[in-house]
Amino acid sequence: FGQDAEAGKRIFARCSPCHAVGPNAPNKVGPELNGLFGRKAGSVPGYAYSPANLQSGITWTEEEFTAYIKDPKGVIKGTKMSFAGVKNEQEVKDLVAFLKAFDAD
Ligand code: HEM
Repeated sequence: FGQDAEAGKRIFARCSPCHAVGPNAPNKVGPELNGLFGRKAGSVPGYAYSPANLQSGITWTEEEFTAYIKDPKGVIKGTKMSFAGVKNEQEVKDLVAFLKAFDAD
């Protein structure tokens, strides 16, 4: 069991109603997710974040992302991301592998 970006692509279908990744990905309901790892929370230009997200102090490492995506509202209290999360450890790893393939813009 490693990280499977192909599986992660299928899991990203749960995110894509609200998030885009890839070349010229636009902000949608949520911010675009290019170059996520290493990025500071709340830093995508032109996206109107909640105060909670802006003030979270998080930098999106794999560890921080894993905690957040399992329980978004638990990790960033007051976030406007209305999503229950991805609870399954393997699914989160696959999602990380998928997202890592997309560098900044
Ligand atoms: C924010 C990932 C599903 C709406 C975020 C952030 C991440 C993320 C990492 C923080 C971005 C940043 O700080 O720049 C994901 C992933 C998803 C998912 C991986 C699927 C597994 C969704 C869904 C929705 C959504 C389904 C809409 C129903 C939002 C919104 C924000 C956000 C509105 C901004 C939060 C705020 O400003 O408080 N998401 N998301 N996300 N997401 Fe998601």
